[in-house]
Amino acid sequence: MAGLAVNVDHVATLREARKINYPEPAAAAVLAELAGAEGIVVHLREDRRHIRDRDVRILRKIVQTKLILEMAATNEMVGIALDIQPDIVTLVPEKREELTTEGGLDLFVHKDAIAEAVGTLQNGGITVSIFIDPNPEQIKLAHQVNTDMVEIHTGIFCEAETNNKRRQAFANIVDAVKLARKLRLGINAGHGLCYNTIKSFKDLHEIDEFSIGHSIVSRAVLVGMERAVKEMLNLVKAL
Ligand code: PXP
Repeated sequence: MAGLAVNVDHVATLREARKINYPEPAAAAVLAELAGAEGIVVHLREDRRHIRDRDVRILRKIVQTKLILEMAATNEMVGIALDIQPDIVTLVPEKREELTTEGGLDLFVHKDAIAEAVGTLQNGGITVSIFIDPNPEQIKLAHQVNTDMVEIHTGIFCEAETNNKRRQAFANIVDAVKLARKLRLGINAGHGLCYNTIKSFKDLHEIDEFSIGHSIVSRAVLVGMERAVKEMLNLVKAL
């Protein structure tokens, strides 16, 4: 049965819109866990546009399930991860000008740097995941750099504008998931998933955990964090 890890970045986005001290991402994390979330995710970006270093430190102290830190594979971030010791680091590409992560890491381009970061983090006792597009060649490269798991990028599927494009994007996800399982990699999936798109993952039982943020936090603004997490958790557990 798949798990649900809840990303609380956008609680911090709301805080940073006013540069004040609320709402508190750590409070959202506690409520998400009380509602049944099996992990808490935050992305510490180079520009600190939402999550700040103090958030990651506080979360490390209070998260009862597992703390998953999304970050670029830079020396600065690897140093922070080794210091704070999240349970899992998910390596993601990062561009300053993007609104959100736009795609998976291109391991054709960054294989050596990623291999080095994976080794350093694992030697520091941290489990490593790599966020990649659902492309068999990327999955094979992820296996070669010795990552523990991959997170398959679901954004192309979620944002597809036509049925044909959506079908093709989902077929790519299925192929990527099957290959990753064959290579014995742990498999997470995320980006852009909402209360509708999650239902398409029925019968794709190889996915270990979904990582979902924006849709849950958006719903939480209207119905509250616990209810928003519980509703998503029910959908995930019904897959
Ligand atoms: N997985 C990764 C690697 C991400 O970068 C993000 C966005 O921070 C997510 C999952 C969650 O995406 P969303 O907020 O669209 O659910």
